Amino acid sequence: MTTQRNTDYIDLPLLIKGKVRDVYDLGDSMLMIVTDRISAFDVVFEECIPDKGKVLNSISAFWFDYTKAIVNNHVISTDPSEYPMGLDKHADKLRGRSMWVKKAKMFPAECIVRGHLEGSALKEYKASGTINGVEMPSGLRQGDRLPEPLFSPSTKADEGHDINITMSELEDLIGKEDANRLKDASISLYQAGAAYALEKGLILADTKFEFGTINGELIIADEMLTPDSSRFWDLSDYEPGRPQKSFDKQYLREWLESTDWDKTYPAPSLPEDVILKTSEKYKEAYSLLTGKALQ
Ligand SMILES: Nc1ncnc2c1ncn2[C@@H]1O[C@H](COP(=O)(O)OP(=O)(O)OP(=O)(O)O)[C@@H](O)[C@H]1O
Ligand SMILES: [Mg+2]
Repeated sequence: MTTQRNTDYIDLPLLIKGKVRDVYDLGDSMLMIVTDRISAFDVVFEECIPDKGKVLNSISAFWFDYTKAIVNNHVISTDPSEYPMGLDKHADKLRGRSMWVKKAKMFPAECIVRGHLEGSALKEYKASGTINGVEMPSGLRQGDRLPEPLFSPSTKADEGHDINITMSELEDLIGKEDANRLKDASISLYQAGAAYALEKGLILADTKFEFGTINGELIIADEMLTPDSSRFWDLSDYEPGRPQKSFDKQYLREWLESTDWDKTYPAPSLPEDVILKTSEKYKEAYSLLTGKALQ
């Protein structure tokens, strides 16, 4: 088993280095590579999580294909032998953890859909009885299902945390017509994803989509319905009124809470059992969702 922390074997301009992904510029298209890096509280750890990059990339690939009749997506190919500009020579390193995608003009908004009450929505609800300014029924508990899936956009901050905005603030930002396009597409994708996940014993509590356009056509881009962009909960363990166990970083968070790390750089070094259990949890998410073991 080999892990990948860096992608400096790629000799092309690096467009974006995220906490987890490295994106290379190919002109009208891009190569997105998902590494095995892991972060918590915005700090990236020194250790890698075996197979994490492959799990995240493969889950996205699965959903892009599953939802392509609802919204077109940015994927050109996930098969490195088809990649351009001599990238096929790195096929062994890229296989399973990369995508060749079309470059889109991205909307400056994160399209969050919430089906259950958690995270920043829970905070706002407790303070004012609303989510993104929308009045909610009283008496909802943490983790409860919302009466209907709620579109809850946020800004895309370059630094610091994204800020939740109302639908009318989104309209001011990108125009009424596009705001409605994003809302409708987000709700449809969430509903398709949540219904499928539920059949597999998983609750899709909430998720974040990123859209762009290519020649005016709406495109779902970035990653899709992964444990990094979504809250997946185990249906058999679900109990509103308390925090649910998260599918990805549950062991990491529990272990971090047992340390006195102050949540700023540098991160502490991870014990072997936390690394292995976290890796297993990611792989479990993949096999529950797709019904297959990771290749
Ligand atoms: N098809 C696409 N065309 C253009 N830009 C895209 C496309 N797909 C994704 N993006 C953008 O590429 C970037 C990917 O960066 P990535 O998510 O890896 O790092 P980040 O958002 O900077 O940090 P983080 O690790 O916190 O997510 C995002 O800004 C996303 O909006
Ligand atoms: Mg991102």
